[in-house]
Amino acid sequence: MKNTVIVGAQFGDEGKAKITDILAENAQMIVRYQGGCNAGHTVVVGDKTYKFHLIPSGILYKDKTCFIGAGVVLYPDSFRKELVDLLTQGVPNDHFANNLKISPLAHITMPYHIDLDGGSESALGANKIGTTKKGIGPTYTDKYARSGIRMEDLFDKKRLEEKLDIILPAKNLTLERVYGLKPYSKEYLLELCEEYRELFEPYVCWNWQELLEDAKKNKTILFEGAQGVLLDIDYGTYPYVTSSNPIAGGAGVGAGVGPMVIGEAVGVFKAYITRVGEGPFVTELLDDTGEEIRKVGAEFGTTTGRPRRCGWFDGVIARYSVLVGGLSCAAITKMDVFDKFDEIKLCVGYRNIHTDEIIEYYPTQVHTHCDYVPVYEYFEGWREDISKARNFDELPKNAKVYLARLEDLLGIPIKIISVGPKREQTIFI
Ligand code: GDP
Ligand code: IMO
Ligand code: MG
Repeated sequence: MKNTVIVGAQFGDEGKAKITDILAENAQMIVRYQGGCNAGHTVVVGDKTYKFHLIPSGILYKDKTCFIGAGVVLYPDSFRKELVDLLTQGVPNDHFANNLKISPLAHITMPYHIDLDGGSESALGANKIGTTKKGIGPTYTDKYARSGIRMEDLFDKKRLEEKLDIILPAKNLTLERVYGLKPYSKEYLLELCEEYRELFEPYVCWNWQELLEDAKKNKTILFEGAQGVLLDIDYGTYPYVTSSNPIAGGAGVGAGVGPMVIGEAVGVFKAYITRVGEGPFVTELLDDTGEEIRKVGAEFGTTTGRPRRCGWFDGVIARYSVLVGGLSCAAITKMDVFDKFDEIKLCVGYRNIHTDEIIEYYPTQVHTHCDYVPVYEYFEGWREDISKARNFDELPKNAKVYLARLEDLLGIPIKIISVGPKREQTIFI
């Protein structure tokens, strides 16, 4: 297998973790390159369901290096809980002790970042983003404002104190004056950072340069994307986006490898589309069909439990994802969700309700999205259980017709089809 990046090609929750888990078998190193604990990645193995937020899902294997790169932001409370949950579920401690490596350059989500995320969402009122409230935006804001705390700072108390002396006065002013929230004392934060240091100490990878050098030469690397192309800070439905770059290009930056290292970018698409949080959604279904997709597909957020908004597959978004996401092939997940549907719709363009003009390119000015309605093609359902299909030939004719049209629209080969959450419910082409 070539070094491969797994990219969410819609609004997140496409089933990236399931695809990562399967491909991880043929990789030696699994890397998270962006995002933080806003991610909720589900892997089903046998009768167990594992939920990941920060830790690469490759940790389920006993012999894969799992690297959290510089592009990730780490909320210690979430990391601690995830660790405990996974250990409780029976993932051996050896897997963490031997394989989990965190970049000293990764930024830390401090408690004030969580407060600021909540404060800013409340202040925005009806204009809120609908964030996961995991402090993602404020942590990345500080990183780019060059006032963030990095993992390595936790291990240098003097430097940390100097940094807090610079950061904290302005931070407290914002907390108190802008949002009416409580300020933080330096002493409290220093104590907390001491706890963080103890928590992360076993996993901090001081020799990350050696690790990457060796991986580039001798290992197959799998990059596990979080979120999705339409949530990308540059290419997504701005401002209804996250604060990192989930696109394939983000893998190089966030992991510390050049673009030549990556040989394949698998875009993961659901057979339909979902979104959590606010923002435009041209093919959204607010009717019984949307409810049916949510029910059959169990479309509730892994991180926040919020019901996911559901709609038909959007070909305009998909083609855009292939383009800016840098995708070289596709995985289509959740095909089984349509097993009982009589009819499936596929959006192949947007029609402007004022001019009747039909566009196939994605309009980036999201406030204009209310001027567009989807142009649909209609497909007959297959009305049979496909969850036991294990190769392409076993799929019913109508499922193949739908997939063929998807492939045609995307312009890249579909190499994986998922017909259920389990490892074995996967068809490789
Ligand atoms: P991620 O964030 O992209 O990793 O996706 P999530 O884990 O948040 O959400 C995907 C959900 O769909 C999880 O509950 C998976 O177990 C489940 N899933 C993945 N692939 C399939 C599939 O092909 N069929 C069905 N029915 N469920 C799937
Ligand atoms: P995975 O990796 C779906 C959404 C939030 C919100 C927006 C900004 O599981 O696919 P943030 O907390 O990042 O500032 O929120 O992005 N969002 C996700 N939606 N899946 C995710 O991750 C998401 N991570 C963030 O709902 O709309
Ligand atoms: Mg998810």
